[in-house]
Order: sequence, then structure tokens, then C-alpha cells
Amino acid sequence: YPGAAEWVPDTGGLPRVRNALPDCRGCDLWEYADQVVPGDGPAEARMMLVGEQPGDVEDQRGKAFVGPAGRLLDKALVEAGIDRADVYLTNAVKHFRFEERGKRRIHKTPAVGHIVACQPWLARELAIVKPELVVVLGATAARALLGTGFKVTAQRGQPVELADGTPAMATVHPSAVVRSREYRRDFGLFVDDLRAAVAMLG
Ligand code: URA
Ligand code: SF4
Repeated sequence: YPGAAEWVPDTGGLPRVRNALPDCRGCDLWEYADQVVPGDGPAEARMMLVGEQPGDVEDQRGKAFVGPAGRLLDKALVEAGIDRADVYLTNAVKHFRFEERGKRRIHKTPAVGHIVACQPWLARELAIVKPELVVVLGATAARALLGTGFKVTAQRGQPVELADGTPAMATVHPSAVVRSREYRRDFGLFVDDLRAAVAMLG
């Protein structure tokens, strides 16, 4: 894939990013998805949370984290004492990747090529928001922000750094908690990680 760089504005704020996103042809995913899903939240946010890619509901509505994983994230944010309106929420990949099974669209994990292609958008959001802490949600976001060697299961909840030194912390993706067979335990651990993130912010 050519990558998103040529479509990413190098000046301006989040509204400019939002305007430019629908034109992106940095990989093939735009062609199958209904629409691009931009990040959501204030440019002044101290905390930025990065997920994987929009889901089916997000693709239909054009808004990040409004499907089942988003509802779980909302609940966990409340329990951790975080106001969703104060944080910036985005995804490593901005278009929904799926497989068609009859009438259903089944989520398909983005390939490394999609993550790499979409990275310039994430880099631009980081440059604009300049978060004090980045919460990395799951393996895809970890691949985009923390590199190949990073293992979420081994290092979740611990302070780490992005390549540029920005403080960060990785945890599981909320959709993994939605699907968990030990839901109560895994939801509790997810909330614990978000509380640790709040403590890291100070
Ligand atoms: N919804 C999103 O916006 N991102 C995810 O990673 C999952 C669901
Ligand atoms: Fe561009 Fe990212 Fe969409 Fe690919 S997934 S077309 S790189 S916005």
C-alpha cells in the first residue's frame, strides 16, 4: 500500500484532519467500508486512547466507539472516574475491515500493511493533541505505537513510552472484554488498568 502520508495535512488542527480523511486512498480499506471513522474528542485532551479499527456500528454511524466495544469502554471509563468528554478516542486504522458472511459483516483484524499505511493519521493526531498519556488498547494499537516486540499480556498496566518519549500504557482491547468468558474478572482488570492510567496522569 502507498500509505496515507500524501493525504494527511501537515498544518491545521483536528477539523482539518477530519475534512481530509474521507479522501484517503492510502490502502484498500476505504473501498469496502461505508465511511471513514475519525478520532473523537477535544484537541486539549490530556489522555488519548487508541483502539484497533472501527467496528460494524462505527462504520455505519461514522463515529468512534459507539458499538458494543464502545459501550463497554464507556462503562469502564465511568468506573475509573474518567469523563469520556475529556479524552480523545481514536483508532490505529480508520476504516472497518471485514469479511462478508451472507448478510453479516464479520470483523477482520487489520494486516500489518494496513496498520503501517494508516500510521500517518495517528501520528498527525498525536502531533495535534500532544497527549500527556496514551492508552494503547490491544495488540493492533500496540503494533502501531509500541512496535513489534511489545506484548500486551506481559506488559499491560505498566508505564511505557512511545518512540518519541510520550508516556503510555497498554491494556487489552474492550472488544476482548466483551467476548470474554470470564467477563467479570476481565472487566475488573480493564478498569484497574484505566485507574492506573489516571494515576500516571497525576
Ligand atoms: N470501535 C472502535 O471505534 N474502535 C475499536 O477498536 C473497536 C470498536
Ligand atoms: Fe487511508 Fe487508513 Fe482508510 Fe487505509 S485505513 S484508506 S490508510 S484512512
